Amino acid sequence: MKKIFLEALNGKILERPPFWFMRQAGRYLPEYREIRHNIPSFLDLCYNPVFASEVTMQPIDRFKPDVAILFSDILVIPDALGRKVSFSKGIGPKLDPIISTKDVENLLVNNVNHHLSPVYETVKKVKNRLPEDVSLLGFAGAPWTVATYMVEGGSSRDFLKVKTWAREDAERFDCLLSILVEATTDYLIGQIEAGADAIQIFDTWAGIVPSDQFNKFVITPTKKIISNVRKLKPDIKFIGFPKGIGPEISTYISETGIDCISIDSTLSPNYAAKYLQGDCTIQGNLDPVALLIGGKTMLKAADEIIKNLNDGPFIFNLGHGVMPQTPPENVVLLAEHIKSLGNQ
Ligand code: CP3
Repeated sequence: MKKIFLEALNGKILERPPFWFMRQAGRYLPEYREIRHNIPSFLDLCYNPVFASEVTMQPIDRFKPDVAILFSDILVIPDALGRKVSFSKGIGPKLDPIISTKDVENLLVNNVNHHLSPVYETVKKVKNRLPEDVSLLGFAGAPWTVATYMVEGGSSRDFLKVKTWAREDAERFDCLLSILVEATTDYLIGQIEAGADAIQIFDTWAGIVPSDQFNKFVITPTKKIISNVRKLKPDIKFIGFPKGIGPEISTYISETGIDCISIDSTLSPNYAAKYLQGDCTIQGNLDPVALLIGGKTMLKAADEIIKNLNDGPFIFNLGHGVMPQTPPENVVLLAEHIKSLGNQ
């Protein structure tokens, strides 16, 4: 059986779009909360191949999307590099912030494959369980986004620490980004060798980079990771998700080497169809709040996106992750609606 997700990544126009949802595994699912409840730390879940593969499969069993995304997190990279990472309820991620030159020098640059081997084990397990027509998507955070968490020590409102550091000591900040490029390359090759069919790079905070630093912090590291991986895996397809970058999206598409651009909900599908879809596959971009509301409101918003983008290479997704308050029935309704548009 064919994998229509990979066909769309190869530029094929399909009867109905393949679909999956960012954060399709997670707290909105009762079956996720049940497993999560019994594991004290979120990272322990990411490093437990039995539970992580189970959680990866939960949305597949429930609403049969065309893609399973590996269950892990972008912050396993700082953890593998030796920084302390924890997740506390209601607060989000907490990291020991990188402050000094020593902190950068002390990163465990050769620890990635050893530390993340349980994640590769999860990929293998999921691959064995997936139906033949469902693709397995691996992922990592882009260096800039991962660096924001490492320097800020968690989520941030103003990104003052990372922006100050990047401007005042560009050389050292570059050094951190280079370490992240190498670590992410190793991690993605590990996922592909274990069975990932394609890769998504999440650059959630690309939109806050000042324009004079955009090339250096967003384009260059992403481009390097893609070319590094393709030296060993020339055929692997990449999706980029540079959230909120506005008109720079055209440069991102032409410079990085991605095959598909994942657009957030602020970009109009009409604009994407007109100006971007000739150059790559489009993925997106239903507002996660429309999914949370459900019913006719949700289906109308979804249809508007499909109407604009389904005449070119297109993968249906959200503009950002499923919100934890989302009723799972809404996801089922949307999935059935998209499946009803074609025979695959
Ligand atoms: O289903 C999937 O999409 C796969 C799993 C996945 C998770 N995180 C699981 C997760 C993926 C692809 C991510 C990516 C990720 N992680 C991003 C990029 C995409 C985005 O959402 O912007 C970022 C910025 C992170 C960092 C991160 N991880 C934050 C800020 C948080 C806390 C906020 C939150 O939503 O809780 C996490 C924790 C996290 N990652 C959870 C899950 C299911 C919730 C933790 C829990 O169950 O306690």
